[in-house]
Amino acid sequence: MSKRCRTVILISGSGTNLQAFLDAAREPDYPLDIVGVISDNADAFGLTRAERAGVATAVVSRERNAPRAAFDTALAKAVNGFAPSLVILAGFMRIIAGELIEQYAGRMLNIHPALLPRYKGLHTHRRALEHGDREHGTTVHFVTAQLDDGPSILQAALRIRADDDEASLSARVQAMEHKIYPLVGRWFGEKRLRMHADCAILDDKPLNAPLVLQEDELC
Ligand code: GRF
Repeated sequence: MSKRCRTVILISGSGTNLQAFLDAAREPDYPLDIVGVISDNADAFGLTRAERAGVATAVVSRERNAPRAAFDTALAKAVNGFAPSLVILAGFMRIIAGELIEQYAGRMLNIHPALLPRYKGLHTHRRALEHGDREHGTTVHFVTAQLDDGPSILQAALRIRADDDEASLSARVQAMEHKIYPLVGRWFGEKRLRMHADCAILDDKPLNAPLVLQEDELC
């Protein structure tokens, strides 16, 4: 196989999406090489997952009352230290500085637990339920300077059931995330996916709307 794509994953918590990438990367033909995991939270269980997989870790925490610029500089240093070709945000709960986003334009991915452009920000499952939505899901997108924005690549969608609550919806959405996020990573690593002029391009075709997979196709 040709050289694998050096990839850094940024987390803040449990790291189930990180785990999905670590599992995928054990496959001999998976094109991403997870070279580092960075957390802003020293207690994140995702750090343990990385250590168990033999992946280098770094913690960049935001000290209370410390200037934001100090965190931004430390994060950029940690990311650049791994010399990645791809940066994956997997539940990273900090706003990333514009300079770092710019530096990795077209090489930084995020997953957001909603069918963007619906429900940017937090509490997406609760908001979908409160709104009486019949459909919900998750979106993988390139990161641009606007929060939870940037060209969408792939969505996974499900039908909300009458007995769904926030917890069940979260679990169903996460199960789909663990399938679609490594898949998008594969496309990137195989050089089938790129971003141009704020548009995602897959197999040389601009994605004017994200591709959508349904829950029953995934789980
Ligand atoms: C995911 O649901 C993702 O959509 C959101 O943060 C969550 C991270 O979960 N951005 P985990 O740490 O990967 O379990």
